[in-house]
Amino acid sequence: MSPFLLTRTLPEDATEAALRADVLHGLTRTPKELPPKWFYDARGSELFEEITRLPEYYPTRAEREILLARAPEIAAATAARTLVELGSGSSEKTRHLLDALPDLDSYVPVDVSESALTGAAKTLLAERPGLNVHALIADFTRGLALPGTPGPRLVAFLGGTIGNLLPAERTVFLRSVRSLLDPGDCLLLGTDLVKDESVLVRAYDDAAGVTAEFNKNVLAVVARELRADVDPDDFDHVALWNREQEWIEMRLRARSALTVKIRELDLAVSFAAGEEMRTEVSAKFRQEGVRAELAEAGMDLTHWWTDEEGRFALSLSTAS
Ligand code: SAH
Ligand code: TRP
Repeated sequence: MSPFLLTRTLPEDATEAALRADVLHGLTRTPKELPPKWFYDARGSELFEEITRLPEYYPTRAEREILLARAPEIAAATAARTLVELGSGSSEKTRHLLDALPDLDSYVPVDVSESALTGAAKTLLAERPGLNVHALIADFTRGLALPGTPGPRLVAFLGGTIGNLLPAERTVFLRSVRSLLDPGDCLLLGTDLVKDESVLVRAYDDAAGVTAEFNKNVLAVVARELRADVDPDDFDHVALWNREQEWIEMRLRARSALTVKIRELDLAVSFAAGEEMRTEVSAKFRQEGVRAELAEAGMDLTHWWTDEEGRFALSLSTAS
């Protein structure tokens, strides 16, 4: 068996059709919005990696701290032979888990970003020639079909990416994750926690402007893929804390009144000066909320670990 398989479940034309549908829907509604998965072309994945190294962006360091401290407990509790990782990106932190799982047979990273997946696989295979890596280019919000690798299975969803789903999407998503598990299989979930507003806002609006560039990259994707005449610098990056929803909202604000022509959609979209469109939410969590959402999806939270400073949580749940 080949130690590396890359399976594409998102055909290029389906990706393009989905982007067209999302942009058409999002830019013709009020208020305008763009869905977040389009951030992650090759440049977007690169910029996200830069974000993870920013001094203001604490989630990556906090989650790595927890993984390093708890990997042996995770290994003992799960006895995983297959590790599936949703939104795996560079798989950087995952290596701490891979190192700790003694019976691991297969690693199944799942991501929409082909460049991130192939980059991660190259590094992993060089370091772990014996590991079966079955990478899936797929959208984790659309019913996944997993390869028939041995159980028990551990599904990891790290980075607080679950916070990028809206509450109703989260409910559907957690049920679909549950459907990938047999009783006794586990979910390892990273969730960023509610905390001081200024710490949160800084994490999504860094001094060096990397997050601003990342946010604007979605416009570069639309410009390239749908032949739109949009200049990312006609927009400002906005990050604000929504106290009621307990999420950070990323927006792009038009610097002046302007019209964007999207040739592939035969569409002209007008923005008023100062008009904002939402590009992403990043929800922050509390233990009781996470426990309840998991229970509702058929999973029992068995472990809850945070970093020393209590900024970020990693939880382990079992399919009941
Ligand atoms: N797990 C990594 C990366 C988090 S960034 C970490 O913790 O650092 C979010 C990742 O999810 C990106 O790699 C992005 O390409 C991927 N992603 C976003 N939406 C997705 C979707 N709908 N389906 C699959 N992958 C997605
Ligand atoms: N999952 C990451 C988070 O919510 C994604 C992210 C980090 C992000 N910084 C961002 C998304 C800025 C959009 C804009 O923390």
